[in-house]
Amino acid sequence: NPQQAKTEPQSSASCKDCREDIKKALELYSQTWKKQEDSYQNFRSLLNRKCKCFDKAIITQNNTPLGSKLVYDGERKRTLQVNQEIFNTFPKGHPFSNKTLHTCAVVGNGGILANSSCGKTIDSAEFVIRCNLPPLSNGYEKHVGIKTHLVTANPSILMEKYAALMARRRPFVENLRSYGDSMLLLPAFSYGRNTPVSLRAFYTLEDFESPIQSIFFNPAYLRNLAAFWRSQGLKAVRLSTGIIMTSLALEICENVHLYGFWPFGVHPYSSQDLTNHYYDDRKTKIKFHAMPDEFNLLLNLHSQGVLKMHLGDCE
Ligand code: CTP
Repeated sequence: NPQQAKTEPQSSASCKDCREDIKKALELYSQTWKKQEDSYQNFRSLLNRKCKCFDKAIITQNNTPLGSKLVYDGERKRTLQVNQEIFNTFPKGHPFSNKTLHTCAVVGNGGILANSSCGKTIDSAEFVIRCNLPPLSNGYEKHVGIKTHLVTANPSILMEKYAALMARRRPFVENLRSYGDSMLLLPAFSYGRNTPVSLRAFYTLEDFESPIQSIFFNPAYLRNLAAFWRSQGLKAVRLSTGIIMTSLALEICENVHLYGFWPFGVHPYSSQDLTNHYYDDRKTKIKFHAMPDEFNLLLNLHSQGVLKMHLGDCE
């Protein structure tokens, strides 16, 4: 149905004509990698100057007092005054340790992770960050690991998979058991529709006494971060969760390793067709994200020794 094909989100991962991009990426990736302390420190302080991640990335009672005005990052005209009920959902102090972490693994959901045997390597990181509540069991463990410290959730997942938490909430709490006592990071103040469902996620996890702590992105941080990446040449309507979490990791960790970042439809080494995610073939919304451009920026950071990207299998 051509009508359907027109409106359906397309996948950057299905671009078979990305041969040139893939060739260039592999040329850059095949050079010997070594962490460049100067480049890492420079990039980190640049990020810190522009976005002040550690102080600002997560909303706390300290950085967002009662009565303050939140300006949504996805809808400029929408604001919200923090009332007592919302204020009570914010953690008192900063939820991250203020000691720089030694190693962080940021796990993207790319199909490149399927059959990668990277589970143990990912789990060996001190801090593991995952995106959009990805599945970790049913055979994926070997390839993606089982440890999680921080996991994000786009409210669209809560709406589609958990009926916006308006019906039974137990399946949500049970499915989230695989993330242990990690933090669940929600963009509660990006769009107006995100707020009620994010608050329901918070209350559900609290009411069911889940060990998972819900925390919210600070919209001011997301706005600054988008401006930062724009200044680096990125022309995307919205940053992807992957590049947001990588930016955050660069401010809180000394060594940042990326897995599951590969927005192309074929495996770089085996040339086998890949699904967009390691667990399904749901497409990326190319209307919002510029995945291959983000990937190139991240690969540049890899070649400068700022972070380490992992494309090959691990064992
Ligand atoms: N990713 C990638 N290559 C893919 C799929 C995902 O590099 N083939 C990375 C992207 O950085 C992405 C992250 O993994 O943001 C998480 O993947 P996904 O859940 O697919 O994110 P999106 O659905 O694009 O949603 P969003 O980024 O808006 O949260």
